[in-house]
Amino acid sequence: MKKIFLLLLALGTPLNHASDLPREKLSLDRGWLFHWGDVPFPVVSGHQTSYLNAKAGAATGAAAPIYDDTDWRELNLPHDWASEAPFDPKANLAQGYRPRGIGWYRRYLQLDPADRGKHLELQFDGISTHCTVWINGTLVHRNWCGYTSFTIDLPPLARFGEEFNTIAIRVDADAQEGWWYEGAGIYRHTWLTKRSPVHIATDGVFAQPTRSAQKPLFPWQSEWKIPVEVTLHNSGEQTEKVQVEAALLDADGRIIEKTSIDCETLPLKDTIVTLSMSPRNPKLWSVDTPYLYQVRTILRQSGKNVDEETHSCGFRTLRFDSNTGFYLNDQPLKIHGVCNHQDHAGVGVAMPDSMWDFRLRLLKEMGVNAVRCSHHPPAAEFLESCDRLGMLVMDEARNFNVSPEYIRQLEWMIRRDRNHPSVFLWSVFNEEPFQGTEEGYEMTRRMVAAVKRLDTTRPVTAAMSGGFFNPINVSAAVDVMGFNYHQQDYDAFHKQHPTLPILSSEDTSCFITRGEYRNDKEKQTGDSGDTYAAPWGATHRNAWRGIATRPFIAGGFVWTGFDYHGEPTPFAWPSTSSSFGILDLCGFPKSAFYIHQAQWRNDLPVLELIPHWNWPGMENQPIRVMALSNAERVELFLNGKSLGEKAVDPYEMVEWQVPYQPGALEAVGKKRGQEVSRKKVETTGSPVSLELIPDRSGIAGDGEDALPITVRVLDDKNRPVPTAMLPVTFTLRGPADIIGLGNGDPRCHEPEKGNQRSLFNGLAQVIVQTQAGSSGPLVLRAESKGVQSAELNISVNPAPEKPFVPKARFSQRIDRWKASPGFSVKPDPLLQVPDNDMNSWSSVTPGKTITLTQGSWSIFSAKIKPFMQQQKNGGVIHFQGIEGKAEIWIDGKLSATKSDFSSGTLMAPFPAGTGERKIRILMESKEGNPIGFSSIICIQPSD
Ligand code: GAL
Repeated sequence: MKKIFLLLLALGTPLNHASDLPREKLSLDRGWLFHWGDVPFPVVSGHQTSYLNAKAGAATGAAAPIYDDTDWRELNLPHDWASEAPFDPKANLAQGYRPRGIGWYRRYLQLDPADRGKHLELQFDGISTHCTVWINGTLVHRNWCGYTSFTIDLPPLARFGEEFNTIAIRVDADAQEGWWYEGAGIYRHTWLTKRSPVHIATDGVFAQPTRSAQKPLFPWQSEWKIPVEVTLHNSGEQTEKVQVEAALLDADGRIIEKTSIDCETLPLKDTIVTLSMSPRNPKLWSVDTPYLYQVRTILRQSGKNVDEETHSCGFRTLRFDSNTGFYLNDQPLKIHGVCNHQDHAGVGVAMPDSMWDFRLRLLKEMGVNAVRCSHHPPAAEFLESCDRLGMLVMDEARNFNVSPEYIRQLEWMIRRDRNHPSVFLWSVFNEEPFQGTEEGYEMTRRMVAAVKRLDTTRPVTAAMSGGFFNPINVSAAVDVMGFNYHQQDYDAFHKQHPTLPILSSEDTSCFITRGEYRNDKEKQTGDSGDTYAAPWGATHRNAWRGIATRPFIAGGFVWTGFDYHGEPTPFAWPSTSSSFGILDLCGFPKSAFYIHQAQWRNDLPVLELIPHWNWPGMENQPIRVMALSNAERVELFLNGKSLGEKAVDPYEMVEWQVPYQPGALEAVGKKRGQEVSRKKVETTGSPVSLELIPDRSGIAGDGEDALPITVRVLDDKNRPVPTAMLPVTFTLRGPADIIGLGNGDPRCHEPEKGNQRSLFNGLAQVIVQTQAGSSGPLVLRAESKGVQSAELNISVNPAPEKPFVPKARFSQRIDRWKASPGFSVKPDPLLQVPDNDMNSWSSVTPGKTITLTQGSWSIFSAKIKPFMQQQKNGGVIHFQGIEGKAEIWIDGKLSATKSDFSSGTLMAPFPAGTGERKIRILMESKEGNPIGFSSIICIQPSD
């Protein structure tokens, strides 16, 4: 007996499909197959091929359910193939000199028959850049924005039980939507949600608390309201009566208030219901105390919970005043903002969720209270972190366009993001050539109206970089004027539009290379002394002065918080990433970090000294020393000798020219004559031992948590050597992987993947990520020739993996068959059918038998191109269920026979060979009984 092959290898722990769960949201991130490069579709020609070309389920090539992907690479999402690619001087500098191209992904999944009738939805959070999606050979979606999610209604395409569902995605990353690094591939999460036929639609709850303009008359009345608008969808076949309940829960999970409403939902229709809650004296959300409530929406049918959705909710008020700026909860708050793209060293745009917290914590430490998502909607997880950590967000559309597809993209952004207390401004564009024209005005008006149809609780802005004074320009269509640069025009514009609030949506653009102190065009470095501003921009110090000294400017967004891949302005190759950042690509602070910290934080004594004090060969030559401080005065000492005390200008900071002598440079910050801060930099010895510093002491073993670890090298007195450039090799022992490496040098061409990285000006970063289901010790070792190695023990804390769809792989199926009409005498099994006859023979799918209306003989026909292994070595066709007598003919030769009428299995030897192979089955039915395939058919390799 031949061995029965396992058709499915369900890898990983299958999820317990608890049918009483009202809603399941399962990660689909594991087990994708990837191919970098295009897979051209077979040429369409001839009658049959042309006829089938655009039919549902009939996709060909790598889009077909059956395709030989056995040599594709298996990987987990999020994935950015551009960050794996080597730098290429011929590739676009805007995209970080990373070749992008086309890539394909495929994934298989099985669906429990118990899921039949449920509302099943696939969700893709972000694919860069354009993509086409096929499910089971049917084209289901084309996505035109790499920053926009999309969902796919699965039931009309779904196969249940032992059958497989195939997702095939062609990603076109040659398409560009930006002038910065955009990555390539499925770089955000993917999901399968299972809901009841009557369910809460995706992004279907809108519950943004608002405070009434008037104070309530009586103490028992509330000034707050949460209108809860719930969009329901019924994918079932009947009208259903349901109850919708909304509840407000505090941070401890206590129900503060709840309310419900009954309604009817019609099949295949949306129903919108509105409820309202009025909690009294809620705790407010702010950037310093980001208190979060939860809004829980439950859907009941005949008393049973059939769906439930919970999201965070914060109570806060927003107000812009055209003369005095921005107010959060009626308190003035100058916006200390930064613009950011979404990539990081080592991982590109495939950011592990935990990296958002890491980056936001750094920004908060600097005194940042707002991030502008330039110039595209962010990952959902980023907004969740902003809600939790207290960071305001200017949420920006990618495409300035009012055609239906682009309005749909804008509406998607508002629907997805409008519950986040962090989101305080919508932005409809960045620097559009039409901004000073009538076209621009008309387009903006329409986009603003689209926003307001979905959310009236936040103002809308647009980031303009010109045309401010044109007779018709976009500023007339927005609630808040966004100025990009052009600081010289603030006053005139304000004078001309005294009632329009103004915000600097973008400013600065100053080039700094971390740890470098010269503007050197040849070496491609920018001075840490904040002296090299773009012609359209300003230094960090000047830009903030322009904003801080004008109360009518609500605040500003520095270009940028972090360096990003691509846009290496003002340089080009070999620079591959930007140097606008206040922090470098790894998140290591540059000098600008302390300039802004000094300007923005008054709760903390700030004092930083630049440069480092390792200048061998520069003895007695003057060196520009800056103290970045919020002290009133700073006194500087060299080797214990005072070089004088100076007042600190809160914008310019303070500086000295100091003739270099090795030793210790020390600054003492003073307020009202008292010391408030002190900072020393010393001339170090040469590197002696490596050091590894994790961002956190532990890491969750959930297969997702990622931990950035700083690598540096110390001298014999344990002082970090700021100029070290040593190559370092890493080894990791334990249940984790190194997922990225970086050092913040825009000119470094070392791979961002692997296990080797050089220090740049004393620092490098390794990012490790746990494997799913892991726990126990993890040891990272760093080695470099000539210095002492370092070992870091990290504890991996057990943590549940989020519920997921098991990954699956399967053998080649033969599932597209044609069956001839019935014959009353035994026909020739190899009977020819004219190529232009599309209709005499009918389509047959394994799993379903047929009953002949005449005669007792029929011929079944299929054509396949075997997978590589079977082409080479041959195999066996395994019929799992075959009804009736059968002769199996392969390429005109009899391969196997089934000589009884009863239901049974059959194995037919399949000879090796290339090209298209023809399979014919002659079937005979007994007394009109069904014939055909009661189960799947596949080709297995030979033993
Ligand atoms: C702005 C633009 C940004 C970035 C910046 C560099 O004009 O909005 O995306 O390119 O310039 O200075």
